[in-house]
Amino acid sequence: MKIRQIENLSELDKAISFIKETLSPYALDRDALMREMKQNPNLLLYMADMDKIAAAVFGTAENNKSKIDYVCTDKAYRRQGFAKKLMEEMLHRLRVRGFESVALGASEMGEKFYEEMGFVGKLLIQSERHSVEELLSLKTKYPVASSGIWKQSPESPPVSQVVLSLSQVDRDLQRLYEKKFPDCSTQMIYTMQLSRQ
Ligand SMILES: CC(C)(COP(=O)(O)OP(=O)(O)OC[C@H]1O[C@@H](n2cnc3c(N)ncnc32)[C@H](O)[C@@H]1OP(=O)(O)O)[C@@H](O)C(=O)NCCC(=O)NCCS
Repeated sequence: MKIRQIENLSELDKAISFIKETLSPYALDRDALMREMKQNPNLLLYMADMDKIAAAVFGTAENNKSKIDYVCTDKAYRRQGFAKKLMEEMLHRLRVRGFESVALGASEMGEKFYEEMGFVGKLLIQSERHSVEELLSLKTKYPVASSGIWKQSPESPPVSQVVLSLSQVDRDLQRLYEKKFPDCSTQMIYTMQLSRQ
């Protein structure tokens, strides 16, 4: 199967349905993806078996930052190297465009895949109800990489964020945070340096 990029609206809609089915219940913003198709068409990648989409990796780039938003493979095609092939192509394209690094947030299922691809993980802890200080009050053995308040848009509620540096997933710590701060969410986030040494 060869790697293709989204070229038109009908391909985009097919890919959106595929990502919704595979990554459900995530919501996709069609308008944002239409803009992406115009601005960064070579970052919307997929592979298809005849007409059936088998895997997709969608990246975005704005200013100096690049992100990967969606990575998924149809159940029937998993563990055959499709996501890896698409991700390698994505990383190559981002390198060619001069990005120094790329970031993403992972589902629990994606963690091993990203680690295998060489991404470096950190744990993101977020809460709308609890302050940064409260989140930091749970002492852990991991260094704090960053902390602060984040707003998706000027109208959005402020979200307290703490990012811990850890070398591998610590599920017990995630569950501990979620128990102690019931509205809090935890997620592994990954980055990769792209600049050539
Ligand atoms: C995660 C996902 C994208 C991986 O896709 P894939 O096409 O099966 O991945 P690949 O075959 O390219 O895997 C490459 C390597 O990553 C690792 N890997 C991939 N999936 C893994 C899993 N479920 N468990 C452990 N390791 C895994 C393996 O080392 C694998 O190599 P191997 O099969 O030779 O051992 C796929 O399972 C998926 O779509 N899951 C549901 C959606 C999702 O959670 N996506 C991630 C969103 S952040």
